[in-house]
Order: sequence, then structure tokens, then C-alpha cells
Amino acid sequence: MMQIKIICILLSLVGVFSSPLKSYYSQENSCVIQKCHAIDSNKINVHLIPHSHDDVGWLKTVEEYYYGRNDSIQNVGVQYIFESVLQALEQDSSRRFIQVETAFFWKWWNKQNAKKQTLFKSFVDNGQIEMVGGGWSMNDEACTNYQSTINQFTWGLRLLNDTLGDCGRPKIGWQIDPFGHSREQASIFKQMGYNAFFFVRLSKATKDERILNADLEFLWKSSANLDDSEIFTSIFSTDSYFAPNGFCWDYLQCDSDAINNDPESFDYNVDTKVALFSEYIANYTKYYKTNNILFAMGGDFQYQAAERNYINIDRLIKGFENNPKYNVFYSTPSCYYKAVSDAKPNLTVTTTDFFPYAESNHTYWSGYYTSRATIKRFERSGNNILQAANQLNAFAKMRDQQKSVDYENNLKSMREVMGTLQHHDAITDIRSKFYAPDDAGTVIIQEVVNDIVLSAANNYDVNFELDSNNLLDSVTMNGETVKITQKFMAYISNNGTGDHVASGSYIFRPINGSDAFNIDYYYGKTAVNETTPKKIPITSTKGNLVDEVIQVFNDWLTQTIRVYKGDDNNFIEFDWLVGPLDNNTVETTNNYGREIITRFYVTDFDNEFFYTDSNGREMMERKRNNYPYDDPRQEPVTSNYFPVTSKISIQDEANDLQVAILNDRSQGGSSLWGGEIELMIHRRTLRDDSKGLDETLEEMEFGKYLVVRGQHYLVLGSTTAATNDATSDKWTLEKVKDSLNFQWSGLQHALPDNVNILSLEPWKESSYILRLEHIMAKDEDINYSKEVTVDISEIFSPYTISSIRETTLAANDWLSDTESSNSFKWKTARAHANPQLLEPATKTADSETQILLTPMQIRTFIIEVSK
Ligand SMILES: *[C@@H]1O[C@H](CO)[C@@H](O)[C@H](O)[C@H]1NC(C)=O
Ligand SMILES: *[C@@H]1O[C@H](CO)[C@@H](O)[C@H](O)[C@H]1NC(C)=O
Ligand SMILES: *[C@@H]1O[C@H](CO)[C@@H](O)[C@H](O)[C@H]1NC(C)=O
Ligand SMILES: *[C@@H]1O[C@H](CO)[C@@H](O)[C@H](O)[C@H]1NC(C)=O
Ligand SMILES: *[C@@H]1O[C@H](CO)[C@@H](O)[C@H](O)[C@H]1NC(C)=O
Ligand SMILES: *[C@@H]1O[C@H](CO)[C@@H](O)[C@H](O)[C@H]1NC(C)=O
Ligand SMILES: *[C@@H]1O[C@H](CO)[C@@H](O)[C@H](O)[C@H]1NC(C)=O
Ligand SMILES: *[C@@H]1O[C@H](CO)[C@@H](O)[C@H](O)[C@H]1NC(C)=O
Ligand SMILES: *[C@@H]1O[C@H](CO)[C@@H](O)[C@H](O)[C@H]1NC(C)=O
Ligand SMILES: *[C@@H]1O[C@H](CO)[C@@H](O)[C@H](O)[C@H]1NC(C)=O
Repeated sequence: MMQIKIICILLSLVGVFSSPLKSYYSQENSCVIQKCHAIDSNKINVHLIPHSHDDVGWLKTVEEYYYGRNDSIQNVGVQYIFESVLQALEQDSSRRFIQVETAFFWKWWNKQNAKKQTLFKSFVDNGQIEMVGGGWSMNDEACTNYQSTINQFTWGLRLLNDTLGDCGRPKIGWQIDPFGHSREQASIFKQMGYNAFFFVRLSKATKDERILNADLEFLWKSSANLDDSEIFTSIFSTDSYFAPNGFCWDYLQCDSDAINNDPESFDYNVDTKVALFSEYIANYTKYYKTNNILFAMGGDFQYQAAERNYINIDRLIKGFENNPKYNVFYSTPSCYYKAVSDAKPNLTVTTTDFFPYAESNHTYWSGYYTSRATIKRFERSGNNILQAANQLNAFAKMRDQQKSVDYENNLKSMREVMGTLQHHDAITDIRSKFYAPDDAGTVIIQEVVNDIVLSAANNYDVNFELDSNNLLDSVTMNGETVKITQKFMAYISNNGTGDHVASGSYIFRPINGSDAFNIDYYYGKTAVNETTPKKIPITSTKGNLVDEVIQVFNDWLTQTIRVYKGDDNNFIEFDWLVGPLDNNTVETTNNYGREIITRFYVTDFDNEFFYTDSNGREMMERKRNNYPYDDPRQEPVTSNYFPVTSKISIQDEANDLQVAILNDRSQGGSSLWGGEIELMIHRRTLRDDSKGLDETLEEMEFGKYLVVRGQHYLVLGSTTAATNDATSDKWTLEKVKDSLNFQWSGLQHALPDNVNILSLEPWKESSYILRLEHIMAKDEDINYSKEVTVDISEIFSPYTISSIRETTLAANDWLSDTESSNSFKWKTARAHANPQLLEPATKTADSETQILLTPMQIRTFIIEVSK
């Protein structure tokens, strides 16, 4: 969320052990569950889960991956995976498979005849194939905005529901590759009615600590605002989603010996294979609380020749027949989840998230929060355009019901492009060959500041002062003058000499762990920390509508600081233009990249914590030097970097002051010491960081190194909601709504200030999706943080809502269906001590069009309208 007021939830940063668990339930995937192989409660149950991890674009494009083009890069054709797996499943009904990415499923499905489609569906119906994940892509969790994530699941799950029906409705969040995990992602899964969230990548030290406590499975309390937000979460025992060494038989990335179970053969090895696998099982079961463990059997784009895998897994399973300790069988994530929940473990509750992701004392995946800065802005604009296009097509459809199908078809390709952009190899660090030179650059460079409707004089008396060198010196807002400085600085990227950990597309690692350097105002190539400030040239303009100062730092960096006059402009805008970071700026001889930041510093300000948003919604508390590897002092900068999707803020209770920066795209950011806030705005790194991409981060457009333009908005105010000047909230609310791009003039009645229409889009036949969201958090504001009831019957006047039915968040399941089949509940001993916690979430008693929303709640409806 982008409000100025900050949720002051001081939740502890680590799991709360043996906390009372609130009742937890959700509909199970009954088609799959009914067909699970039997559990043996006297043995360790080993769930083998065949899977193929199919990136929706990485080293090749989606098309190249699907058809199997350009195989010298990666020998992959995803179409063959479908064919090959179907044949293998026909051989033996005990075999299982999971299907994850709907972008590939949909491409395949549309090209099949009815017979092939029926075959696939029969495997979904008989539990041999479980559909998991189900979004258009497996989205990134750091740089994505919640709206885009919801949209890409809504579209993916819609296609699954339309083609596969009830049995094909995913209930499992399967995020095995993203580079760190957000709490909002867990919340989205929970709100979509999912049962469980599986992931792999988290910081090694955090994982080690959880292993010691047998805590790799826990309940993730995914929201500080929503009731009933816990979702069962399971972290893999292995360090990757590949099969354990020795059990990888695919022709891609594998070299394990096949299993030979012919006693006559001198290569007979099933006993040694069983012994080795038993060792893995014995080692890893200690990490978990129940007598179940899962192994993902597969990897990137595996199962193109599925029998290679299945034949060997069959023999492995056979090798464990009658094993006294281990019951080994084909399984799926829902079967595993069912087995674990039936065992009723006492789980701990986690309220934090899993950022930044660190693989070692020096390898922090915090560069991708900023990499490819124009693509990240492009994505945000794309989301706004999609949201607007959805609304316009919905309105057009209301007027012209005859052509309702056309209005939906208009949106199809944009929905899919945006879904692909959310992929964890796209919005993060997309490969240079994937975007055409004339797309992003042009749009971004030409992007015009939003039209601003300017009215009377500024009521808020927002102002700023520069010092004698023309750098920011102080800010006046809400009746307070605060000394705040701002300047641009550069980190020098580590070039990987020595330990081979270089700054690159994914990794951010300043050389020697050192702080940023002042940018040399006129030259800048050598890494000299300019300590004698230079006076920078400025041009200032004062007008009736806006006052602005243009600062020219050098030939690749300028900034305009603006104050708008008129109502609701209670902020200062920093409009920066950075680049090209060419060879005169970057030290190419030793491959020292440059990573440019903007740094704000508030004098006499003390903050131990800072706050960053989770995918544009709730704020997360961050503690400096707390996370996440053994010794953060070895990388004091990058270990403190977090994803900032829309807002970063600091507060000083003693001074009753908080300062926030809102950004226009995802960036990495931090508060490295009291009073400091920084955001990384652009990067050029000259070394590949050995994470598989095999290219440097040196973007060019129009024959030049990339130029990036963007905006930051600075706001400040009191820390306490009670004494806060409500007008600042009004500004923030307007700003939030602007950024959500939903100032729809088609609305006949204004919605309350704290309610936003998150989605209005044409849906199947004569229907529409309508999503309403409460945009304030609990305790955020005395006036706006209350629950609110909206009467929506008249909002689309002259059309009235003729039917309305609530769904889960992704609109693929009627809410009543989900609620009526509550199957099992998590319980703990202490839950009985707090019986009130077992009460179901307060349910609304609204009449059909009187919609009650609690803080941060999103409700999704399928509606029809008539005139
Ligand atoms: C295959 O990849 C190479 C190297 O990236 C590229 O030059 C070529 O155009 C690609 N070929 C096709 C058919 O896409
Ligand atoms: C099991 O754990 C032991 C002790 O840590 C280790 O030596 C062994 O290599 C592990 N076995 C496997 C297969 O990982
Ligand atoms: C859960 O904890 C309670 C109380 O500590 C205990 O009685 C119960 O046996 C535990 N359950 C399991 C499965 O460990
Ligand atoms: C990094 O450390 C090395 C060795 O201490 C030193 O020679 C070098 O100047 C440092 N580089 C920077 C940019 O501080
Ligand atoms: C460069 O100088 C600034 C003060 O002007 C200081 O904050 C920063 O830490 C210095 N950076 C390095 C790497 O010494
Ligand atoms: C800039 O440096 C890079 C090395 O990173 C080199 O490949 C490129 O040719 C140089 N460009 C110019 C214009 O010299
Ligand atoms: C990294 O910089 C050092 C100088 O500090 C240089 O000796 C080394 O060759 C550079 N490594 C690369 C890969 O450019
Ligand atoms: C990380 O650094 C600490 C010392 O600060 C050391 O004890 C630990 O072994 C290091 N971890 C690894 C994996 O090297
Ligand atoms: C906020 O609520 C207080 C107390 O209910 C009221 O006095 C005040 O007028 C409200 N402010 C706004 C802007 O609605
Ligand atoms: C899912 O698909 C079925 C079959 O087409 C349909 O009847 C049902 O309404 C769909 N569910 C939702 C929530 O759209």
C-alpha cells in the first residue's frame, strides 16, 4: 500500500513458536485426494513428485521453448513434454505428474484434437495429473505488484476452469524457482483458496536454523490485517527443485546411472540405489515434524523423454517394496499436503517474509530488484493500461451486450503479455534479446508526467530549500520544516575477482562491501570519493501551477525537483534522468560496474527499523543488520537491501516524524543508518554473476547505453494517526487511486475514500468481474481504517446490478462452494486456551449489493448488469 501512514505492527521477525493457531481450512482438491496412494502410518512416507519446471521465457523465448527452436541454447521443446508424459501416464496408472505453467498448457491444449484433450482431462480427473500453480507464469515475488499477480492468476485459472473443470482447479502454490518469497504472495494464495505454498529458495542461514528446529513446515500468517490468513507452507529439504544426486535420469542436466534391477546383470545396482536414497530420506526426515517427506523428481524442462524418468522411478519404488522403514510412492503436492495435515503436526507461525535471498555470506540476490529499470516501469505502465482497458471494455460491453465476446477478446493478448512479464525471469532481469529496441525505451523516454489538474493556490505550503551548492537542504510540509538532504551516489560493482561473486543481473555486491561514492559532478570515471562539494548548475522556475528546480549534475544525470500547487499536492516530486552509463563513466578496464542510487538523509533522525511494502500492499518491518546470512557485516550494504515495489519509509517516534518515498516502479532500497533512505535507480554491471543468464547487464537503446527516467515522491508527517493532519492522508489516498488508475468517470456515485475498485473487467458471456478493495490498513488512520459498507447497486447507473455472486480472489471458484467443503482444520494444544480464535472469520451480513469491507480486504464478484 502506498499510504503515508505506516502500520506500526511490531511483529517479531522470527517465527512465533507454538503459537495458538487459528482454525485453518480450505477446500481440498478432491479429485486428486481421492486417488492418492496409501499412507503407511508406521513408516516414513516418501512422496515422489514428478515435475518439469518450464520457464515462460528464460534463455530462449516462449515460442522457442514451446516448439523446440534454437536448441543449441537449450535443447528444449515443451510440446514434447506434454506428448511424452501422456504416453508414460498411459503405461501405468500409478504414475503421477504435475502441470504448473498455464502459458504452456494453453499453447499445447489449443493445438490438440478432442481425443488428445480428453486423454489429458482423464488424467486430471483420475488424479494422475495434478494442476498446481496455474498462473499464466510462475511469477516473481519481489518486483511484482499485487494487481499484476492477481491478474495473471485470474487469467490462467480461468482457462483451466473452462477446459478442465473442478478437478483441474489448482489448490497448491508451487513457487519453486523465484529468488525469495513475499508475504503478499502467500496472502494471494490464501485468498485464492489454495491449501499450501511450496518453495525452495531462502537464505541458507534461515534454512539452517529452521532445519535445527524441524521447522521447514509452518503456518505463514500472510496478512497483518485479514482474518484467517494462515496458509500451510512447506520448504523443500533439498537445495534445489532437482531430484537428489544419483536420481536424475533426464537427458537434460542429468548424469545418474540408470537403475538396473536384473540380478543376472553385472551392472545390478538397485540395492546401492535404494541404500543411497534411504540415506537421503533418513537425513531429510529429521527436518520435518511428520512421517512424510517429498522429493521433487525432475528439473528444468525435463520429461521431454518422460520414460527415461518414469522407468527409473518405477524401479526405485519397486526397490523399496516391503522396506520395513520407508513407504515410497508416486505422489502430488495435494496428496503430500493431505498426508501432513492428517498427521496434525504442531506448526509454528511465521509473519516475516523471505527477502533478501542470500546464498552465502557474499551472494545476495538483491540486484534484480532494480535490474532493467525501464522494463520495470514498462510493466507498471502496462498494468495501468490493462486496468484501464479492462474498465473501458467493461463499460463498452454494458452499452453493447450483443458484442460482449468482442470486448473480452480485445483484452486477451494484453492479459497474456502481462502474465508473461510477471514470470520470475522476466520482470526481474529479462534477457536482453527479449525486448525489441524500439519498445520500452521509446515509451519510457517519451513518457510525460501525468496531466495534473491544477486549481487554486497550494493549501499545504509545501516547500523546499537548497543549500549553497544547490543540493536539497530542507523540506517544509504539514507545518514542519525538516532538514533533509538528497544526492545521487554510485556503488562500484564487485568484478568477481577472488571469490567469483560479481555484481550482475541478479546479484548486487559493492566492491569491498563499501559504501557508495559521491558522484563526480563533471567527470566521474575514477572511483574517487569527492569530498569537496561542487556547486551544481540549476535552473529554477516559479509559476502559478508549479515551482521547479532543474539540477544538472553532469552530462548523464539531471533531476527536476517540483512542488505542485493546488489541492491534494502535498508532496515533493523528484524527477530524475540518469544515463547513459557509458565507457566514460564506468571503469571498463577492470570491469567495475556502476550502480546508481538516490540517497535521502534526514538530520537528527533515529530509526532502527524501516518499512518496505510487500508487492504494493501491506508494509513489512525491516530491521537493519538482522538478515539473513551468518554475518551481515561482511556485506553491510546488500544484506540490508529489500524490494521496494511502491513505498519505503522510516519513522522516529521521539521526533514524532515519519518520512516516506513512493516510487513509480520496483527498485531495491534500504535505510542503512538512522535517517537514511536510499533507492537504487540504475545499474550497469560488466560481469555475469554466474546464475545461468550468461550475460552482462549492459542495456543499450538507440546505440547508446540506456537512459532511465523516473519519479520519486517524498512525503512526511507525524507518526501518530491520532494527531496526523488528515489532509495528508487525503493526498495519499488520491495518489494511491491515481497510481491504481481508477478515477473512473463512469461511476455515478463516488465510492468512499478508503475504497477502490481494483478490477472491473468483461468476463465470460454477459458477466463482469468486479473487485473492491479497502485500501487502508488497521490502525493506520483514525478515520479511514474502519470497516466500510459500500452500496454498489447504483454505481454503474444507468445500469443496475442484476446478479452478483462472490468468488475467491482469482474468480475461478464460487466462494460458497469453497466455504461449504471445509475439510480439515489445523489445531494445536494452545488453541484450546483461546477458544475465540477458533471462531470463523466474521462474515458479512450484507445484502447482495451492500458490500462490507474490512481494512485491506479485497472482495471479488462476478456480476451481471441490466439497464
Ligand atoms: C537463435 O539464437 C541465436 C543466438 O541468440 C540468434 O542469433 C538466432 O537468431 C536465433 N535463431 C532463431 C531461429 O531464433
Ligand atoms: C547424510 O548426512 C550425513 C551426515 O551429515 C552425510 O555425511 C551424508 O553425506 C548425507 N547423505 C546424503 C546422501 O546426503
Ligand atoms: C502438539 O502439542 C501438544 C501440547 O504441547 C501435545 O500434546 C501434542 O502431542 C503435540 N502434537 C504433536 C503431533 O506433536
Ligand atoms: C578494495 O580493497 C582493496 C584491498 O583492501 C583495496 O586495494 C582497494 O582499493 C579497495 N577498493 C575500493 C574501491 O575501495
Ligand atoms: C563518500 O563520502 C560520503 C560523504 O560525503 C560518505 O557518506 C560515504 O560513505 C563515502 N563513501 C566511501 C566509499 O567512502
Ligand atoms: C565500452 O566497453 C565495453 C566493454 O565493457 C566494450 O565492449 C564496448 O565496445 C565499449 N564501447 C565503446 C563505444 O567503446
Ligand atoms: C578486477 O579488478 C582487479 C583490480 O582491482 C583486476 O586486477 C582484475 O583483473 C579485475 N577482474 C576482472 C575480471 O576484470
Ligand atoms: C560466514 O561468515 C562467518 C564469519 O563471519 C563464518 O563463521 C561462516 O562460516 C561463514 N559462512 C560460510 C558458509 O562461509
Ligand atoms: C476524523 O475523525 C474525527 C473523529 O471522529 C473527526 O473529528 C474528524 O473530523 C475526522 N476527519 C476527517 C477528515 O474526516
Ligand atoms: C468453472 O467452469 C464451469 C464449467 O464451465 C462453470 O460452470 C463454472 O461457473 C466456472 N466457475 C467459475 C467460478 O467461473
